[in-house]
Amino acid sequence: MPYNNVRKGRDFEVINSEIHRIETVFSSSQYGSKRIQQLFLIEDNINFLNNGSFGATPRIVLSAQQFWREKMEMQPIRFMTKELPIYQRSALALLANFLHADVSSMAFVQNATTGMNAVIRSQMMKWSAGDEILTTNHVYGAVRNTLLYVASCTHATIIEASIPFPIMNEQQIVQAIESAITDKTVFLCIDHITSPSGIIFPIKQIIELAHSKGIPILVDGAHAPGMIDLYIEDLQPDWYTGNCHKWLFAPKGCAFLWTHPKHQKDTHPTVISHGYLLGYIQEFDWTGTNDFSAYLSISTALDFYAATGAATLRAYQSQKAIEIRNLLSSVWNTPLASPDSMIGSLAAQQIPSHLWPDIQDHQAYAEALHDVLWEKYAIEVPVIAFSKTIWIRISVQVFNTDEQYHYLAEVIKKMRKKEILAMMKSKNQA
Ligand SMILES: Cc1ncc(COP(=O)(O)O)c(C=O)c1O
Repeated sequence: MPYNNVRKGRDFEVINSEIHRIETVFSSSQYGSKRIQQLFLIEDNINFLNNGSFGATPRIVLSAQQFWREKMEMQPIRFMTKELPIYQRSALALLANFLHADVSSMAFVQNATTGMNAVIRSQMMKWSAGDEILTTNHVYGAVRNTLLYVASCTHATIIEASIPFPIMNEQQIVQAIESAITDKTVFLCIDHITSPSGIIFPIKQIIELAHSKGIPILVDGAHAPGMIDLYIEDLQPDWYTGNCHKWLFAPKGCAFLWTHPKHQKDTHPTVISHGYLLGYIQEFDWTGTNDFSAYLSISTALDFYAATGAATLRAYQSQKAIEIRNLLSSVWNTPLASPDSMIGSLAAQQIPSHLWPDIQDHQAYAEALHDVLWEKYAIEVPVIAFSKTIWIRISVQVFNTDEQYHYLAEVIKKMRKKEILAMMKSKNQA
């Protein structure tokens, strides 16, 4: 049954006509307006400045997800065995088109962590004592753990190229990676947009560097889809994984893994199921019984993303993130941490000096500061211990308002260290 026929079903007509209404909401109101906020379920009267961690799914996309769940439950056997393979490939074709990627190299995975694990744990069979796996000090914590796990299995060594933060220019990133490459380096694992520092790496240059040295490269693009325009076939990495639930408005549990054709035979999902040795697509399309509705909702997520203005939204997000970090920098009197060109929808700013911790455990201090912001001021924003200091990383999403960022700036400016230390104490006693 062609995918398009399914989309003509009664429920989908409602969803499609709702998308047209949403287009007019975006074309007639400003980002951050009440009408746009109402397209989401985010609670009223909170300052939700952390789209970056898990994204926020619009109501319309959740309705589409429910449509797919109901469709599955109407005849589960027919759905799983006959319809799902077709729907899933159709959904992947839409996503591939959006990413400028060849659909035959694409697979859905539940999240970037799963994509990273699939590649790293497939490739580890080739690694042994003496081999070096190169990443950077900006690597995401869960990916670092995956690398530590494979190091313990293979006795390969994990090397972290040290990239300064604050940073002056892109060349510092390329140079730090290049100077950490040795004749023992067998694999590169590099972020496209970093988690703790929220900066965009010059990934094309890094991929070219890896290939000039004959080293395969896995790109962690967890934050990239929707935040920046992606042309995966032009980048030509060896592998690329990215989330659709962070910046592309998909339901949670919707991500992809792109694998270069030359690696598809030896790239396997971490969970092996019926598709083993039947080819890349079959292996990844089924890794056991699951709720596939997040994948199938991608068409509605892409429609919603288009309705936001897409290119206009991306330009707005980076311009707003730059404006807000400039504001935080001047109110908190801490330096800007990167050139504007490295900023997408995220920006990290160092906290003011009157709040710098004088304790060893920066992680516990960051967690306590987070909890003070949330519990006393209803501000949800990540507080990150990184590069020997404490950072606050703001996100810019369509529902955020200038007032929320100004409130954050003032709350932090007026906060006293004793509030944070008291929170630490109360958590220790709990
Ligand atoms: C750079 C990076 N990689 C991987 C992940 C993991 O994403 P997920 O939890 O969706 O697997 C994140 C999440 O924030 C991230 O920022």
